[in-house]
Amino acid sequence: MTSDVVFQQNFAIHGGDFVNAGESSCKIRIILKEIGVDAEIIRRVAIAAYEAEMNVVMYAELGKMHFMVTPKKIHLTIEDKGQGIENIELAMQPGYSTATEEMREMGFGAGMGLPNIRKNADVFNISSIVGKGTTLKLTFELNGKQN
Ligand SMILES: Nc1ncnc2c1ncn2[C@@H]1O[C@H](COP(=O)(O)OP(=O)(O)OP(=O)(O)O)[C@@H](O)[C@H]1O
Ligand SMILES: [Mg+2]
Repeated sequence: MTSDVVFQQNFAIHGGDFVNAGESSCKIRIILKEIGVDAEIIRRVAIAAYEAEMNVVMYAELGKMHFMVTPKKIHLTIEDKGQGIENIELAMQPGYSTATEEMREMGFGAGMGLPNIRKNADVFNISSIVGKGTTLKLTFELNGKQN
């Protein structure tokens, strides 16, 4: 473990705000490109960040994304205040979704967000308290690549 921080930033995410949704993950993609991170890793981080961000927009009231790059890893923590998830195992299943009709009309609700986040992150941690909120902790290895 190294304590060196190459870059870090916090992003606020607002529940129900479909207009600005996706902005944080878009900025993260730009920052990683500027740092010179491998394109395949950028792709994985951007997918995970976007899906996590959209889940806050759709199912929580307020969230914070903490993005940190060290020489060896990218850390993403997405913490929200909201309804939380009652059954995490169920929520993790591909195809499971509680998205509303309105969200489905916007193209969300395939129930693939969480499975995709898990697939793309090297380390995936989810915890949730019903009525309080949900926290996702993700790590991506830079595998010694220059950054
Ligand atoms: N941050 C969260 N707070 C509360 N519930 C959540 C949160 N994230 C996910 N969930 C619950 O887990 C379910 C599955 O999430 P997932 O991201 O896999 O699918 P989805 O958001 O429903 O659809 P998609 O991501 O494919 O558009 C959601 O429908 C919702 O019930
Ligand atoms: Mg989702």
